[in-house]
Amino acid sequence: MKAVVYHSAKKISVDDVPDAQIESPTDVLVRITATNICGSDLHMYEGRTSLEPGTVIGHENLGEVIEVGRAVTRVKVGDRVCLPFNVSCGFCKNCERGLTGFCLTVNPGTAGGAYGYADMGPYPGGQAELLRVPYGDFNCLRLPPDSVEREADYVMLADIWPTGYHATELADVQPGDSVVIWGAGPVGLMAALSCDVKGASKVMIVDRKPDRLSLAEKVGAIGIDDRKGDPVEQVLELTDGNGADKGCECVGWQAHDSNGQEHNYLSMNGLVKAVRATGAIGVVGVFPPADPKGPDNLAKKGQMAFDFGTYFTKGLRSGTGQANVKAYNRQLRDLIASGRAEPSFIVSHQLPLEKAPEAYQHFDSRDDGWTKVILKP
Ligand SMILES: NC(=O)c1ccc[n+]([C@@H]2O[C@H](COP(=O)([O-])OP(=O)(O)OC[C@H]3O[C@@H](n4cnc5c(N)ncnc54)[C@H](O)[C@@H]3O)[C@@H](O)[C@H]2O)c1
Ligand SMILES: [Zn+2]
Ligand SMILES: [Zn+2]
Repeated sequence: MKAVVYHSAKKISVDDVPDAQIESPTDVLVRITATNICGSDLHMYEGRTSLEPGTVIGHENLGEVIEVGRAVTRVKVGDRVCLPFNVSCGFCKNCERGLTGFCLTVNPGTAGGAYGYADMGPYPGGQAELLRVPYGDFNCLRLPPDSVEREADYVMLADIWPTGYHATELADVQPGDSVVIWGAGPVGLMAALSCDVKGASKVMIVDRKPDRLSLAEKVGAIGIDDRKGDPVEQVLELTDGNGADKGCECVGWQAHDSNGQEHNYLSMNGLVKAVRATGAIGVVGVFPPADPKGPDNLAKKGQMAFDFGTYFTKGLRSGTGQANVKAYNRQLRDLIASGRAEPSFIVSHQLPLEKAPEAYQHFDSRDDGWTKVILKP
């Protein structure tokens, strides 16, 4: 089969690799029809993770079931399914509580597994013609018949919409809340959509990419361009000096200043200042336990100069981590099916799998107009 293979920093190619196949009776085999490039893929693409050369990448996958293992009872050949980026078992202590991003079975020694991702277990990715889905009955989200024509909406259920939603859950966003989101990449834009769905009264989103900020306005958010002035001051101005009720971190450790210099504390410290006292912050941008190529000694050790004193004094609280996609994907699917939400508003490109190398290059440079790419194997 054809698949996107990682070789080294900024070197990927579409190669012929052995076909994915059923390996265990609980597996499902899916022919992939849509697979997105994610901001998380870029950390690996830039050589900032320990990803093994030769790994097939891609964790935002949707397709048609073409074979099921003999222990699979619910999912049938011919079903159209979307796969959570998390690989999870469904029966461990964490999965039973809905914390499928922290499955204790699929990646022993760590909590959590994913397709085609550094340190997330032995699961090849789905930027490929075929994908093996472990524990298929648990992991496959079945899609309604309109998933063929509305594939660009449904494929957002694999990761970024549930992840954006998770940010708002960790931040405890309630109807009527004002919310500030740091980062208007796909995840930040999906957090903005989620705030809209939840009935937030005011949503502000900080970035410096005009194309992304104007997409945010499509779901009623106010774009805050941090090149035009201190973003914290802008949030305070928009909230009568109080700060937002809640905040979402959707940038991650590669947050940078206007010169492109990375400072891993920028988004977190911005949020601590821009969220009002007693508010909550949901952190879904990725922060690794170590970053050997980081710009300073703290960053190399996975640490940061966090404004903890202000965080404490304001009585803030926060939640962090990988999204538990299965906790939300069914409900979010039904919002798409009923026409209440169209997460595909962020999609800028739908390209054949062969175009992956150039698509990665453009998305990695955050080139104007490259907000979200769907690859079609
Ligand atoms: N927790 C999860 O389950 C999960 C899932 C998917 C993605 N992620 C992570 O979410 C983060 C965002 O991913 P994405 O797909 O939206 O891609 P992205 O990297 O394209 O988006 C990040 C955005 O942040 C902006 N940005 C950079 N520095 C900034 C700063 N100092 N202030 C404000 N904005 C700044 C960039 O311009 C960009 O638009 C990444 O770290 C990704 O790995 C986490
Ligand atoms: Zn992703
Ligand atoms: Zn589990």
